[in-house]
Amino acid sequence: MGENTLTGEVFYPSFDFLGEPHIRDRAELTAEAEKDYTGFWARHAEELHWFTPWEKVLDDSNPPFYKWFTGAKTNIVYNCVDRHVLTARRNKLALIWEGEDGEFRSLSYFALKREVCKFANILKSLGVEKGDRVTLYMGRIPELVLGMLACARIGAVHSVVYGGFSVEALHERLEDSKSKVLIVADGAFQRGKIVPLKEIADEALQRAATVQSVLVVRRTGQPVNMEQGRDLWYHDLMRLPIASSSCSLEIVDAEDPLFMLYTSGTTGRPKAILHTHGGYMVGAYTTLKYVFDIQDQDRYWCAADPGWITGHSYIVYGPLLNGTTSFMYEGAPTFPYPNRWWQMIERYGITILYTAPTAIRGLMRFGDAWAERHDLSTLRLLGSVGEPINPEAWKWYHRVIGRDRCPIMDTWWQTETGMFMITPLPCDPLKPGSGGKPFPGLDMDIVNEEGQPVAPDEEGYLIVRNPWPAMLRTIYKNPDRYVEQYWSRFPGVYMTGDSARRDADGYYWVIGRVDDVIKVSGYRLGTAEIESALVSHPAVSEAAAIGLPHEVKGNIIHAFVILKTGVEVHDQLEEELKRHVGHEMGPIAKPQTIEFVESLPKTRSGKIMRRVLRARALGEDPGNLATMED
Ligand code: PRX
Repeated sequence: MGENTLTGEVFYPSFDFLGEPHIRDRAELTAEAEKDYTGFWARHAEELHWFTPWEKVLDDSNPPFYKWFTGAKTNIVYNCVDRHVLTARRNKLALIWEGEDGEFRSLSYFALKREVCKFANILKSLGVEKGDRVTLYMGRIPELVLGMLACARIGAVHSVVYGGFSVEALHERLEDSKSKVLIVADGAFQRGKIVPLKEIADEALQRAATVQSVLVVRRTGQPVNMEQGRDLWYHDLMRLPIASSSCSLEIVDAEDPLFMLYTSGTTGRPKAILHTHGGYMVGAYTTLKYVFDIQDQDRYWCAADPGWITGHSYIVYGPLLNGTTSFMYEGAPTFPYPNRWWQMIERYGITILYTAPTAIRGLMRFGDAWAERHDLSTLRLLGSVGEPINPEAWKWYHRVIGRDRCPIMDTWWQTETGMFMITPLPCDPLKPGSGGKPFPGLDMDIVNEEGQPVAPDEEGYLIVRNPWPAMLRTIYKNPDRYVEQYWSRFPGVYMTGDSARRDADGYYWVIGRVDDVIKVSGYRLGTAEIESALVSHPAVSEAAAIGLPHEVKGNIIHAFVILKTGVEVHDQLEEELKRHVGHEMGPIAKPQTIEFVESLPKTRSGKIMRRVLRARALGEDPGNLATMED
């Protein structure tokens, strides 16, 4: 396909600007991967360190329980940290951090190793052993990264709970993971205010029986309750001889668990997606290397939160595996003014910025002048993730932030996939709003109800036909749900839960979720969680949540509520219910609007028909109502 034959609006890359990228022609990498798929991944795996080499690249003897690099021994932390300390990179900055209040910290690879070792020794002194689960509940501060790496170094499994979640969400995740230790910050700065993380954790801990110790990191400095015999200050322990700066590294199997991360699915409670050391490492390393073309002089900034998969793969593991310098910022993009981000790009000489459409749209609202005041000439690549990006936001990002030079990598992927799946490469022609094509070697497709590929431009289910190294291995403690949720609709095929179409040029256009997941500001929430938070309020008998389109947030939550008999609607009730959801689940799960109703449309088997509710709220035709109760 010649460049000039592409249809629609196309932005071509400039090699004068890109210099010598890792790859200048997608076809080359694709041909290699298609000719020998496992050989392709093995070639990239060989760029990393393995204590014992693998016997098999891919073990597909028991699908969908695929295994990668079986027989190999490694540890992702060795490749993220120790490996670099043995080279000239030891004094290179691994992490630059700015707090919302302007505090600044930086860590070289050498310092990173020292701090991770000290932290790991503290965890060991608290009795954490290989395979134990540790929950982390903090804002965007360096200790979150250190804590994740400290767990992985000793073979413990980390479970990061996003700092924007609240009591019930944290409680549920502590309980389900049976975490032995909770690492929490006293608080987090957000928009100039303090989120009282320790206070929220105390409430969640009242009902979390397995947690033996709570390690408290001081960030905001407000007084917090410290429970004797359970709670310990991190900085106190860091000063003790037990926090020695040498800590042996646990050599683990490639398939040993690295972390679990809770995410929302179609039904019921959030599920813990399980990722492993070996395959995940190879996937995160390789995709970041090519897609953001990581070079030694880069200063890379992924503005996501480590509490979500984007932060795991592309703030923590991917950048460190590539030996790059990562920047992390604690607070809100518009605090104290809407130029905060542009100021930091200028100050630190950021070369790559990776963020979400909701942030771009939010900043775009303030006009061009805030960004134009700043020298953004260090930027060379931009990225987008989390939800479809509308072409207007894409073009604004390209023109005002990228100054018409920086290619935008619109990366489609999921908590489950662990790594970029549909993504441009910097050498590709780009179409605003499209993520381009599957990463080389991935066999992806768009199919209809019968599992047959759809025609160009037709909408269908987005699927993956072949396994990939960073894929989830299972749902923690629930292998049946893993099979049922992802692999049973079409046998042997991975269901993403998204719908998409593909144009005549083979470019993918992701449309959105086809299940009961709502993406609010790029955050993934399940209708079931929001509904159960509502129903836990004494006034509520039944609830249904739907997503409605919103200019900045992508979607907002609209809830329908049936009150218990005898409860009267009053002026404050809507606010009270929103507050209740905020307390249980977290501010991100608060419905924007609540509508009190007498009944909800249901199928004969009693399932709420959210499709009908959504159509009604949008004034659209609800479609086929044959399965409706009455
Ligand atoms: O619907 C897709 C959307 O985000 C979902 C995955 O959410 P989560 O597991 O929280 O991971 C988000 C960050 C990787 C997908 O099923 N999504 C993610 N990236 C894109 C996207 N939709 C459109 N374009 C994207 N680039």
